[in-house]
Amino acid sequence: MPTALITGITGQDGSYLTELLLGKGYQVVGMVRRSSTVTLERLEHIQDDIIITQGDLHDQSSMVALIEEFKPDEVYNLAAQSFVPTSWSQPLLTAEATGLGVTRILEAIRLVNPKIKFYQASSSEMFGKVMEVPQRESTPFYPRSPYGVAKVYGHWITVNYRESFDMFAASGILFNHESPRRGLEFVTRKITNTVAKIKLGQAKELRLGNLEAQRDWGFAGDYVEAMWMMLQHPHADSFVIGTGETHAVREFCELAFGYVGLNYQDYVIQDPRFYRPAEVDLLISDPTKATNELGWTTKTSFRTLVEMMVESDLKRLSKK
Ligand code: NAP
Ligand code: GDD
Repeated sequence: MPTALITGITGQDGSYLTELLLGKGYQVVGMVRRSSTVTLERLEHIQDDIIITQGDLHDQSSMVALIEEFKPDEVYNLAAQSFVPTSWSQPLLTAEATGLGVTRILEAIRLVNPKIKFYQASSSEMFGKVMEVPQRESTPFYPRSPYGVAKVYGHWITVNYRESFDMFAASGILFNHESPRRGLEFVTRKITNTVAKIKLGQAKELRLGNLEAQRDWGFAGDYVEAMWMMLQHPHADSFVIGTGETHAVREFCELAFGYVGLNYQDYVIQDPRFYRPAEVDLLISDPTKATNELGWTTKTSFRTLVEMMVESDLKRLSKK
C-alpha cells in the first residue's frame, strides 16, 4: 500500500485529493497545523480512514520528523496562505508559508529520502498581468500580488530541486478551481452562499469588488486527479491545468442568481473595499500539454459547477 503525505489536507483540495487517494488504495497521512479549534470539517466523512498528525510549514523539523516517521512514497504540498487579499496585509507570513515553506519541505525530503515524489501546488496567479493569451507552461510570469510572488518562488525552487538533485519534483500550475467546499471568502463561494441566503430570506444584498475580472474556473474534484497523474508520469515536469475557458465574475453572478430565478442586478452592490491594489484581469489556460502527456481533461462545465455550488449552499442553509 503506497503512502501519501498531504500538507494542507484540511483545505478544499486536501479533502478531494484524500478521497481520490483512498479510492486508489493509498494510506493517507495529513499534516495539520496546531489550532485551538477543530479544522477537520471537510474531512469529517473520512476522518477514520486517515492519519492526522501535527506539523507546520514554518517549522522544518516538524516536517523532517513526519517524513522520517511515515516514510511516504509521495508528498503533496497543498498547504499555503492561499487567499490573495491577505497577502497584501500579511506579506511576510505569505512569503514564509507559501514561498519558503516549499523549500523547507523539499529540504526535508532531500535530507530524509530524495527518492520521494513531490508535488507542488503552483498557481495561475503567477501569470498575473499576463504576457500571453492563453497561458501555457512557457508563458513568462508577472505576478501581481505578494501571494503570486511567493508562488513564483515556490515554483522555481521546485524546478531547481528537480534539476539540482535529480529529485522527482513536479509543479502543477493550476488555474482557479472551486467546489461546494471552497472557502467562503473566495468570490465563487461568496456568491453562491449569498445567493442561497437571499433566496431563503437570510440576506438582502451581495457586496463585491471587480465584476469584470475574468477567470478560468474548473471543479476541484477534477483537478486533484491531475495532481496524482503528475506523480505517476515517467518523469517530473511542470503542467498547466485549466479548462481553456474564461468567464467574468459578472457572468458567475448572472448564472448563480439566474439558477434560483433572480436577477443579479437587483442584489449586487459594488464596494471599493473588495477592490485589490493590483488586479489580475484575465486568466485563461492552454492545458494542451496535460491533455497530451497525462491524458487529463476537465470533466465539469462552468454551468454545472455554478449550479452544483448554489444547490449545495441552498441545501446546507435550509437545514439550519
Ligand atoms: P485552502 O482551502 O486555503 O487550504 C490551504 C491549506 O493550507 C489549509 O489546509 C491550511 O490549514 C493549510 N495551511 C496554511 N498555512 C499553513 C501552515 N503554516 N502550515 C501548515 N498548513 C498550513 O487552499 P486550496 O484551495 O485547497 O488550495 C490548495 C493549494 O493549491 C494552495 O497551496 C493554493 O495556494 C494552491 N492553489 C489553489 C488554487 C485554487 O483555485 N483553489 C489554484 C492554484 C493553486 P488550516 O485549515 O489550518 O487553515
Ligand atoms: N475574493 C473576492 N471577493 N474576490 C472578488 C470579489 C470579492 O468580493 N469581488 C470581485 N472579486 C474578484 C477578485 O478581484 C478576483 O479578480 C476574482 O474575483 C477572483 O478572486 P478569488 O476568488 O479571491 O480568487 P483569486 O483568483 O484571487 O485566487 C484564487 O485562485 C488562484 C489561482 O489563480 C485562489 O484560490 C489562489 O489561492 C489561487 O492560486
